[in-house]
Amino acid sequence: MYYRKKRGSKSMKSFCLIIFTLSFILIHMGSGRAQNTVDTVDMEKVIKFYNTKCAMCHGKKGEGAPRMAKMIKVPEKLLVLKKEELKKMSNTVLLELLMDGKNKMPGYRKYLSAHEAEKLIEYMRSFNK
Ligand code: HEC
Repeated sequence: MYYRKKRGSKSMKSFCLIIFTLSFILIHMGSGRAQNTVDTVDMEKVIKFYNTKCAMCHGKKGEGAPRMAKMIKVPEKLLVLKKEELKKMSNTVLLELLMDGKNKMPGYRKYLSAHEAEKLIEYMRSFNK
């Protein structure tokens, strides 16, 4: 009887250890996932923002919107977000452009946090025209 009890408490100990380890792993997985979620949600929000505020001029994938170019009287190619052109521009320059605008390009300071603007820049840099 005594022997059994002892064994019982020993397996209870390892049971607790397993639970402890599992919850430790779960907590860490959980926090990792939470961070990912914030990141993806952010990007989704930024893509939505791009599609509603920018795509009308620059096209869904940066290909430009020729009709809009005519309407605002700029050369069509000015609205194309070319990968090579964006590469030449630093994040700081792009951030300034997004916030303050330039010529016929409106500024978006009222709508964008610096973090969202950075994500938006990251998104534009993924276009492959
Ligand atoms: C009304 C049309 C219009 C809208 C809306 C618009 N843009 Fe622009 N964008 C322009 C024009 C015009 C230029 C060229 C400005 C210049 O150099 O004279 C430009 C330039 C740019 C450039 C620089 C491209 C280069 O190669 O020099 C980027 C990047 C850009 N826009 C991103 C955006 C983003 C992101 C949004 C949405 C938040 C946006 N634009 C909304 C018209 C627009």
